[in-house]
Amino acid sequence: MQKILFFDTKEYDKKLFDEYNQNYHYEIKYLETKLNEETAPLAQGYDAVCIFVNDRADKETLRILKDCGVKLLVLRCAGYNNVDIENLPEGLKVVRVPEYSPYAVAEHAVALLLSVDRKIYKAYQRTKKYNFTLNGLLGFDIHGKTVGVIGTGKIGRVFIQIMKGFGTNVVAYDVFENKEAEKELGFEYVSLDELYKRADIISLHCPLTKETNKIINKNSIEKMKDGVVIINTSRGKLIDTDDLIAMLESNKIAGLGLDVYEDEEEFFLNDMSNSYKRDKDLSILLSMPNVVITSHQAFFTREALDKIALVSLDNIKEFFETGNCKNEVK
Ligand code: NAI
Repeated sequence: MQKILFFDTKEYDKKLFDEYNQNYHYEIKYLETKLNEETAPLAQGYDAVCIFVNDRADKETLRILKDCGVKLLVLRCAGYNNVDIENLPEGLKVVRVPEYSPYAVAEHAVALLLSVDRKIYKAYQRTKKYNFTLNGLLGFDIHGKTVGVIGTGKIGRVFIQIMKGFGTNVVAYDVFENKEAEKELGFEYVSLDELYKRADIISLHCPLTKETNKIINKNSIEKMKDGVVIINTSRGKLIDTDDLIAMLESNKIAGLGLDVYEDEEEFFLNDMSNSYKRDKDLSILLSMPNVVITSHQAFFTREALDKIALVSLDNIKEFFETGNCKNEVK
């Protein structure tokens, strides 16, 4: 049976994959360390390597994996911006879980929006201390506001659907306009500039690519409404953090909800509370009022994890049985 090496494994991954693997019988070894150039040689003798969002499969790492005899790189996530697909060596293939639960991510984006708007994080801390005052907790009705959605793929469309339920107007931007969804969900495709101009709330749901890298920067934020609320559950590098901090300091942005951060790799999903290691910009953001940050947890629902485990193991099965896989990243 094929041997699979997992990188960046957490307890919940292990528990779940072990449970599902009872039907597949792969020989799995779980490592806590992340995949990169230094750790790639650990894959010697494995048929497949399974990684997550903050593992780095750059050109050199991919070459080492190939030389170690690895035939398949299994992404137990949807995004593949951490894999240098253009420099994939021949004989090494990459598969992913293209869709596991758009609801998990879209609902988390809404949770961030509501937390920021209604100051739930502050209220929670206050009532825990038996402080029942309302000063500083003033929010706004989401009903009637204009929501701007960048990226109307699977997650973006679920987010739009939920936002329509709140009674908002939704304007959206995507490089590929889905006219059917526009009609069905009742939103309007506009240019990016118009979206910036009209939206009270902006939520990012596009992938990280060369074109979207730092798409939210000083220039784009300046085009936004004063007091805009920005939500990012997509990828940290969609936002230029230095510009973001400057625009928060100038009160241009009234609220920020982040599930991802530009330099999250070393921090997110890890307990750093007893470490002296700190990221300056992350610390500044965390200390700011009306900024809510979660640690790349938008995907983290029972339903999504089940699907991730099942589809990842199915991808491995399909590849080793047929040499191909419908979820291959090309
Ligand atoms: P999808 O592929 O269904 O949709 C992405 C959409 O973005 C597509 O409609 C595409 O045309 C559009 N797009 C591509 N380039 C664009 C550009 N330059 N400007 C505007 N739109 C552009 O992907 P899905 O499933 O909706 O996921 C979206 C993103 O969410 C993923 O790429 C990933 O980065 C992120 N994600 C985050 C998770 C988390 O736990 N925080 C979990 C899963 C995904």
